[in-house]
Amino acid sequence: MDFSTLCVHGGYRPDCTGSVSAPIYTTTAYAHPGVQQSTGYDYIRTQNPTRQSVEKCLATLEGGTDAFAFASGMAALACLMELFQPGDHLIVTGDLYGGSIRLFNTVSRKNGITYTEVDTGDLDAVKKAYQANTKAVYIETPSNPTMQITDIREISAWAHEKQLKVIVDNTFLTPYFQKPLQLGADIVLHSGTKYLGGHNDLLAGILVTKQEEDTTRIKFFQNTIGAVLSPFDSWLLLRGLKTLPLRMERHASSALAIAKWLQKQPKIKKVFYPGLEDSFRYAVNAKQVSGFGGMISFEVDSEETARSVLSRLKLVLFAESLGGTESLLTYPLLQTHSDVPREECLAKGINERLLRLSVGLEAPADIIADLEQAFAAVPENR
Ligand SMILES: Cc1ncc(COP(=O)(O)O)c(C=O)c1O
Repeated sequence: MDFSTLCVHGGYRPDCTGSVSAPIYTTTAYAHPGVQQSTGYDYIRTQNPTRQSVEKCLATLEGGTDAFAFASGMAALACLMELFQPGDHLIVTGDLYGGSIRLFNTVSRKNGITYTEVDTGDLDAVKKAYQANTKAVYIETPSNPTMQITDIREISAWAHEKQLKVIVDNTFLTPYFQKPLQLGADIVLHSGTKYLGGHNDLLAGILVTKQEEDTTRIKFFQNTIGAVLSPFDSWLLLRGLKTLPLRMERHASSALAIAKWLQKQPKIKKVFYPGLEDSFRYAVNAKQVSGFGGMISFEVDSEETARSVLSRLKLVLFAESLGGTESLLTYPLLQTHSDVPREECLAKGINERLLRLSVGLEAPADIIADLEQAFAAVPENR
């Protein structure tokens, strides 16, 4: 079946009531038909039919065997890290969402798990970072916010020779544009808060597995830790998924038009959009994706310009998230990466001039008009 059909029908088909939309099961406990008998549902934390529908849909869309829905992307990452032991080491993409770095730096480090940041798109650098206790490679591609690209196929082939797990945060592209498990990765992570939900009204996290060993362990940790997605949020996520292909097409086509416009603006020095043919590792990326997504970062000429543009927006919202219907402009240094040491941010190009735009579903001409008026209003001769 086509991906778009699976988005609509892949998680739920009408039950005995004929309900076309998945029912929201808020019940916490399920009566047992007899001693040591189960309907398949016992207690809400362990499994819930509404959550199960969205998990099934996401497993199918990512091409995995199982999916697990959590209360947030960070809850999914925290659960994932339970796969590792004190003394283990991970190799991670040098440019990651700031909250993931915060978790690795604090919670994981406290638990005795260390990591090395490298450009995971440079296999030689990855090989140099390898240690006897390395257990996994953790990737964002494109990365947040500087759109670094990693060749998932190449790194998976190398990692598997070394018996390492390959984990990909697929939040930016979603399985509509990129399917890491098919490219060789072992586990996919999502902030479902972003494109999967798609409407800036839901907090969720997802892990997708394809190997029995990972599935069994994550299922155990999900139930044991208990940061599961609520029935109502599961339903919202399921509803969001139905329009994922339509939204992703629109986000991507608008983003390309806006990125081209941004490139021509005198106050903009650099545009990071993986769909631009002169973008970083364009050819590598083009081999593994079917579209380039709706995220653009750009560097303006000065900190004053960045601050001035943010305060002059009239349509686009100055806010810290992405992947929804409303266009959001974010200041990564002070928002998504505020807990990452300043020198580290600057070394990665996350400086006071960098802004990140999540292109929403408004008409691209209206988004451009808003940015145009905001740039035009920046005072000269400061
Ligand atoms: C790429 C990426 N991964 C993970 C997360 C964490 O997800 P959540 O905010 O749902 O906890 C985010 C949040 O911004 C993100 O951008």
